[in-house]
Amino acid sequence: MRLTRKYRFSASHRLHSAVLSEAENQRLYGKCNNPYGHGHDYTVEVSVRGPLDTATGRVVDLARLDQLVGRRMLARFDHKNLNADVPELSGVVPTTENLAREIGRSLEEVWSTEFPGGRPRLEKIRVAETDRNLFELNLLS
Ligand code: NI
Repeated sequence: MRLTRKYRFSASHRLHSAVLSEAENQRLYGKCNNPYGHGHDYTVEVSVRGPLDTATGRVVDLARLDQLVGRRMLARFDHKNLNADVPELSGVVPTTENLAREIGRSLEEVWSTEFPGGRPRLEKIRVAETDRNLFELNLLS
């Protein structure tokens, strides 16, 4: 059984790569390269997969999942500047690709402690940046 839980947060960023020229940054990132940044309302879907717990009839303890995502994601990113406020993103361009990767890394880091025995497994992270851009990170190999 798979369960997907949706979360939302707002954050700002500027897309600019220090290893590219000004012209190349503007060509590549367009308005997202504007010097003072801009914001997004991100939607993040966290998918977990596992057997049903016979005692609860559920695939995951939602309160525990919410607590984990709140601590590892929302508290770190909501109403923050992704260029300046998130040490783990320093040195990388805060694209939604890199954001999704950091969310996955951070959840995986403590997953087996929060969900002993690896049940359920963390399957997928999907981050929507706009109506048109949706990024997917598969965590099961
Ligand atoms: Ni942007």
